[in-house]
Amino acid sequence: GPEQAYPAAMSHIHAAAYPALRLRRTRATGWSRAMHAENRLSPADFIWPLFVTEGRDVSEPIASLPGVSRWSVDLAVARAREAAAAGIPCLALFPNTQADRRSDDGAEALNPDNLMCQAIRAIKDAVPDIGLLTDVALDPYTVHGQDGLLDEAGYVVNDATVDMLVGQALNQAAAGADIIAPSDMMDGRIGAIREALETEGHANVQIMAYAAKYASAFYGPFRDAVSSRGLLKGDKKNYQMDPANSDEALREVALDIAEGADSVMVKPGLPYLDIVARVKANFNVPVFAYQVSGEYAMIEAAAAAGAGERDALVLETLMAFKRAGCAGVLTYHALHAARLLNG
Ligand code: PBG
Repeated sequence: GPEQAYPAAMSHIHAAAYPALRLRRTRATGWSRAMHAENRLSPADFIWPLFVTEGRDVSEPIASLPGVSRWSVDLAVARAREAAAAGIPCLALFPNTQADRRSDDGAEALNPDNLMCQAIRAIKDAVPDIGLLTDVALDPYTVHGQDGLLDEAGYVVNDATVDMLVGQALNQAAAGADIIAPSDMMDGRIGAIREALETEGHANVQIMAYAAKYASAFYGPFRDAVSSRGLLKGDKKNYQMDPANSDEALREVALDIAEGADSVMVKPGLPYLDIVARVKANFNVPVFAYQVSGEYAMIEAAAAAGAGERDALVLETLMAFKRAGCAGVLTYHALHAARLLNG
């Protein structure tokens, strides 16, 4: 066998003992590797974020997110059909609200005919079997790009913002959203939204809490996609989490579960897999991660620079989420990865 094939020059060298256990044995062939794989990726692991914009037959590439575009509702419906055909179970929708519909208080979030609601209704009508997850936060609707309401000092106030978010969530649920995903990081919003969903006839609408969402430098391309980057003054550090913290993430998750979250999310993804693993070890709740825009852009840039092979980078990073304990992952690579896996 191959282990006997010593080069002649090495014949005088002998190990004191040969290994009693050879972990390489099960790695030697493709069939054996497949048989011993501890985790598997499938299209059902992916939630695909889609950016929606006004108009008909409009497709706007996003420069900082190569390969990703904003689509008008009709084209978003076409993307939904492709996703369903590839076995992707759920889409995450984000609106690029037109400038004249943005305001200080983000009231457009409550408009039953806003872009988000139009997209929900059109996709539900055309592709009823795909799930729709909708983001709850005011940043695509405010002129200042913050996720909530500001006081005179520019501080994002908590409780008045929660009232707005409850209205936003009810508006999305009424339009047909399946999973409400609050990404705003206000205290108490999961309980308030859960209670409102129950009392307003949406008992079966799920909540996936962005439970541990960090104040991250990886959100830049997303903010381009929803046109909030240029509007945003300052940062989101007084509500999103400090990247230094991990125990605090467990407290956030515990609160969101107690308040009625059906599942929790960690965001960003790859730099925070330690948080995923800790959450998974501490709670019996489905954990999702968001491989965010800056991570996507980083992988695309690495592949374009020749640092690695794109498809392999994509699948390896997605497998890392499964290994860390994720039930699924929000990723801009969802359709591409699903098609790779479908062969
Ligand atoms: C809005 C929101 C953000 C993302 C998802 N929802 C940006 C932010 O918090 O500033 C980022 C997603 C991504 O970068 O892909 N609350």
